[in-house]
Amino acid sequence: MAAGDPLNPNGMTRDQVEQRIEHLRTELRHHEHAYYVLDRPEISDVAYDALFNELLALERAFPDLVTPDSPTQRVGGEVLPSFPEIPHLAPMISLESITDEDEVRRFDERVRKALPTVRPSYLVEPKFDGLSIEAVYEDGQLSRVATRGDGERGEGVTENVKTIRSVPLRLHDRPGAPVPAVLSVRGEAIMHVKDFERLNRELEQEGKPLFANPRNACAGSIRQLDPRITARRRLDVFFYDVLAAEGAPAMATALDQRRLLGEWGLRVAPEARQCASIDEVFAYHREMEGRRDSLGYEIDGIVVKVSELAARRQLGTTARHPRWALAFKFAPREQETIIRNIVVQVGRTGVLTPVAELEPVEIGGVTVGRATLHNREEMRRKDLHIGDRVRVVRAGDVIPDVVERIGPSGSVPEQTFQMPDRCPVCGAPVVHEGPFDRCPNGLECPAQLKGAVEHFGSREALDIRGLGERTVGELVSSGLVKSVADLFTLTIDQ
Ligand code: IVH
Repeated sequence: MAAGDPLNPNGMTRDQVEQRIEHLRTELRHHEHAYYVLDRPEISDVAYDALFNELLALERAFPDLVTPDSPTQRVGGEVLPSFPEIPHLAPMISLESITDEDEVRRFDERVRKALPTVRPSYLVEPKFDGLSIEAVYEDGQLSRVATRGDGERGEGVTENVKTIRSVPLRLHDRPGAPVPAVLSVRGEAIMHVKDFERLNRELEQEGKPLFANPRNACAGSIRQLDPRITARRRLDVFFYDVLAAEGAPAMATALDQRRLLGEWGLRVAPEARQCASIDEVFAYHREMEGRRDSLGYEIDGIVVKVSELAARRQLGTTARHPRWALAFKFAPREQETIIRNIVVQVGRTGVLTPVAELEPVEIGGVTVGRATLHNREEMRRKDLHIGDRVRVVRAGDVIPDVVERIGPSGSVPEQTFQMPDRCPVCGAPVVHEGPFDRCPNGLECPAQLKGAVEHFGSREALDIRGLGERTVGELVSSGLVKSVADLFTLTIDQ
């Protein structure tokens, strides 16, 4: 195309356009990696968008220059008819799950007995609670991604995983880490807890069924035939194992593997560690159990792997599991308990939330006595009653959730619960809004007034010290505060 062509308003020659496109792609890949893989952004979102939009405009003007690994090609936009079946390059075997410390010690003894001449070390890292996937890169380009399926073959979810920004469409070519001809890597797709909560809030607004946990939400988002939906769900992937590599630099240990994966631009767990003994593994297990709530994503244990790859080959696999690794799980954060009663809370916006009062149970070190039942629709879907035996889950810092009904408890009499017709606090007739029940009384309703005053005095707003839940409760109940404005005329005596 000649300079000054109307399709090319910048007046660049085709050569110059090609160069500019290549430059933009390199820049965008660099910043995607800094932001999504390393969590260390170097430019603002606005600056990133400007580069992206410039590339998009050039590719629109020169469609023949679009390549499948261009950063613009993450969302193909095509709705698929179904997922193709894809055989794995190497079988995706699963790990033996263990919660008992003695069994972990026996594992270590077996490993050391089978390797009399080497002193094995262990690579330990979080056990991500998500969806296991295999990604294949051919000549550095992401060519296909499959779910684990039956371990031999899985569902081809390539288009969906391409929308995940932490997954490079093309491997980085670095000194000392040349791109292999074929690389098959295993990793876990996850949904961060904050994205899970956001998704459930949106689903709740739309009156749709909620996801029970981030793992289900992640699996549901990857198994979407419309990649645009997956793209909106903002998933993430951590890679942790090399299934096959042709033409790659030699790797002797799991640390070598991790280093190379990192060099190629793949996201690996920063929490991984090398342990010289099984006691260090126990210490790591305790440490990660303590850090579990602050990671921002769910883990359900740690994975312990013999680090030396030659030792792994020597140990081999049983019919089902490798002898060189295991999943050392945490105590589950799920418990069965009984719904003793259901009460209704009125929030700041007037929404009535049914809350289950539970037979108290300990879940992951915390005693849980209440759980949200969300709204009328969710209660109906799960068919919940007073007196039911239910399964309760506590994830991260999220309010505990009743995920399913098991059956009648047999001890507390079964009783159907109806959402009230009137606000339990002010008595105003309730209005129905989709799955929600709402008190329309605004600040005339003491519950909403308390919520508003508390919110007004909170750290995010005016940050009024001493104005906590109790003080607000007393001020409103006594009638001293009938509106937010009354706060300013309160005297010290009052
Ligand atoms: S290593 C030979 N590392 O947990 C298997 N697996 O059965 C090598 N998982 O679905 C797997 N986090 O996909 C490994 N950091 C991690 C992991 C991990 C989660 C999954 C794995 C499998 C299950 C164990």
